[in-house]
Amino acid sequence: MRVLEPAVVAAATSVLRVFQVSTPVLAPPNLPQAVPMLSSNEESSTTSVQGQSCNITQTLMMHSFGNSYGHPFVGYYDPPQCSFNHITLNLTVEATGRQFDRLAVAYLGDVEFWRTSTAEPTSDGIVWTHIKDVSHLLSLFSQPQELTFDLGNLVNDKYTSPFNATLQATFFEAADTVRRADLVLPIPARRMELQDKDSGEHLQANVGDSIVLPQNIERAIFTISASGQMDEEFWYSNVFSSHVRTFGSDPMPGQSAFREVQLLIDDNLAGVAWPFPIVFTGGIVPGLWRPIVGIDTFDIREDEIDITPWLPLLCDGKSHSFQIRVVGINDDGHDHGHISDIVGNYWVVTGKIFLWLDHDGSVTSGTYPASFTPSPSLVLFNSIGTSPNGTNQTLTNVVDATRDLTVSSQVKTSKGKKTSLWQQTLSYSNWNDLYDFGVTQVVAQHTSGSATSSEGYSRSFSYPLFVNSTTIQNKAADSLFISATVNRGLEIETVGQSVFSSDLKLFDNSYTHGSRTARPRGPDMGTRLITTQNGSAIYFRHGNVSFSPATTQQDLVLSHIVPGDSKAGSTKQHDLYRRHVLAVNDTLVEDQETYNAELSQQHHNLRQYELGSV
Ligand SMILES: *[C@@H]1O[C@H](CO)[C@@H](O)[C@H](O)[C@H]1NC(C)=O
Ligand SMILES: *[C@@H]1O[C@H](CO)[C@@H](O)[C@H](O)[C@H]1NC(C)=O
Ligand SMILES: *[C@@H]1O[C@H](CO)[C@@H](O)[C@H](O)[C@H]1NC(C)=O
Ligand SMILES: *[C@@H]1O[C@H](CO)[C@@H](O)[C@H](O)[C@H]1NC(C)=O
Ligand SMILES: *[C@@H]1O[C@H](CO)[C@@H](O)[C@H](O)[C@H]1NC(C)=O
Ligand SMILES: *[C@@H]1O[C@H](CO)[C@@H](O)[C@H](O)[C@H]1NC(C)=O
Ligand SMILES: *[C@@H]1O[C@H](CO)[C@@H](O)[C@H](O)[C@H]1NC(C)=O
Ligand SMILES: *[C@@H]1O[C@H](CO)[C@@H](O)[C@H](O)[C@H]1NC(C)=O
Ligand SMILES: *[C@@H]1O[C@H](CO)[C@@H](O)[C@H](O)[C@H]1NC(C)=O
Repeated sequence: MRVLEPAVVAAATSVLRVFQVSTPVLAPPNLPQAVPMLSSNEESSTTSVQGQSCNITQTLMMHSFGNSYGHPFVGYYDPPQCSFNHITLNLTVEATGRQFDRLAVAYLGDVEFWRTSTAEPTSDGIVWTHIKDVSHLLSLFSQPQELTFDLGNLVNDKYTSPFNATLQATFFEAADTVRRADLVLPIPARRMELQDKDSGEHLQANVGDSIVLPQNIERAIFTISASGQMDEEFWYSNVFSSHVRTFGSDPMPGQSAFREVQLLIDDNLAGVAWPFPIVFTGGIVPGLWRPIVGIDTFDIREDEIDITPWLPLLCDGKSHSFQIRVVGINDDGHDHGHISDIVGNYWVVTGKIFLWLDHDGSVTSGTYPASFTPSPSLVLFNSIGTSPNGTNQTLTNVVDATRDLTVSSQVKTSKGKKTSLWQQTLSYSNWNDLYDFGVTQVVAQHTSGSATSSEGYSRSFSYPLFVNSTTIQNKAADSLFISATVNRGLEIETVGQSVFSSDLKLFDNSYTHGSRTARPRGPDMGTRLITTQNGSAIYFRHGNVSFSPATTQQDLVLSHIVPGDSKAGSTKQHDLYRRHVLAVNDTLVEDQETYNAELSQQHHNLRQYELGSV
């Protein structure tokens, strides 16, 4: 797969609204009424600024990103002088002309708080708004500090469009029993820019730092943000390193289609993330992602690893190293492979450590973590088919991988002794077929797994992906033709307390503010998010003119998991929110949104807002 020239799209006659299908986020104008105070037995996470509740929106940035590689927006963030425990961000971007999709990373101080890709504009202009809840970063947003928005872009005669971006923050209070992290620390400790302004080098690949943590930590979570760019943008379609020159001297990206993001603490494996295959708006065929962008494109999801079992080590007052690295597979050409130290150029990787603190002066102790982290089991298969004259005509690369990982220890805090456990089970398979001297590529990948923490959190996920694309290039005629079908999904079930705000937040709040009695709360209450996208498209370019008719369908269902009525441990679920959209040739032709009937009345405002925004 290749990075396409962005189109000069002669599309709709007015500004096109592009959007990501996601669950609606609670915002204060939609709050039914004044917020009740928290009851005294619930742990409050309101900021230290006491007094009146916030209900305000601040503009944090208005900036046009033109030639912005090495020139991020830098502003100063000052929290409002009222109390809040919720923060939602609104990023709205306008662009007109011709431009690639770009990656943007936003930081408060040195901590990344939002990673997004941009949409590719049209000659009549596009606009998008995405709302993100960042309440999990409450401690960060409670301090004045520098805000950096790094969106590297290039504007010239050919790529004409800047990205005009507005970032607003809305602060408010709502009933919330979640105790937010007291401290959020970045890894690496100092923010790095996406591209060095002098050398043009991409600075981020495998990152790490050594830091001294407070000694009174009760709970610690590490989150990872990682996305493949350039040679690694379509990592899920990469071939075995031994096969990169199968169809001639132009090498295809290697290290296989398997990727693992590893977290190492003092060189010990503490957990892994098997990445979701993000497809940016110029990916595969651009028409597929206009106006419905790919899953998570405007808010690249982070993975979380519970590092509480490492606290007896991390709370010793000494410096410890945290390293994040992205690995693939190196193979010997005979279906034997092992985890590679490096992958292609390049990945943008950052981490955050979320810390919940014990009383001042308390020192967390316990046993050294015992870990069971055998290498992933890898099964490789390849086959090459040749044409009658002996040249390579087809290539098949198959990877199956599984991994189990457990870390446990005894952790002693002022509250007593506990057994702390982090466990992951992962499974991956990728079938990668190239036909017709590489003209057609069919990738079928499935990643799934589960993670459990003794802190009462568990998550299971499934990421199916199918891509069938055919690319015919005629260099003499300066033309390119691509046709593709895509079928993909993301399914995540979360039970217990994730470091991130639950998708359920919205519904929880409306419910507790309404006249009905609140639904049962408990550690076994969770959510399931399922979204699928499928589509087919072609792309045709001749000289500098291209067009890309496409059909894309997306469905999303958010359900609530509650304890079952009968046996202990049983659960049942009901759907809270559904959305179905269908777009044909840059036009949204179907958009159906359904709320649980029982809740629909309360969501009337929000529903109008959601519908109004597309
Ligand atoms: C918050 O402010 C908005 C807009 O000013 C207003 O419509 C809404 O009623 C306010 N909500 C609360 C809870 O005060
Ligand atoms: C988001 O911000 C844009 C630009 O400032 C504004 O026009 C829009 O109304 C905002 N949307 C929401 C839901 O706050
Ligand atoms: C973006 O901002 C620039 C500079 O302010 C302006 O010239 C341009 O018209 C804006 N483009 C859009 C699409 O709003
Ligand atoms: C055929 O593919 C193999 C494996 O990638 C490669 O080593 C060989 O050079 C290729 N043959 C030709 C003629 O390109
Ligand atoms: C081998 O045959 C294929 C078609 O089967 C053709 O495209 C290719 O040019 C031939 N290669 C050589 C070296 O003759
Ligand atoms: C891939 O697409 C081509 C062209 O449309 C089609 O002939 C082929 O059957 C498809 N392959 C799979 C596995 O779907
Ligand atoms: C997507 O999948 C649905 C259900 O299988 C099918 O009816 C629809 O035609 C597909 N749409 C596209 C654009 O491939
Ligand atoms: C496309 O190329 C033609 C011929 O080179 C040129 O005249 C025209 O201005 C170009 N159009 C755009 C939109 O770049
Ligand atoms: C989409 O565009 C293609 C190519 O121009 C055309 O063949 C097709 O009929 C269009 N579909 C619709 C529903 O307009």
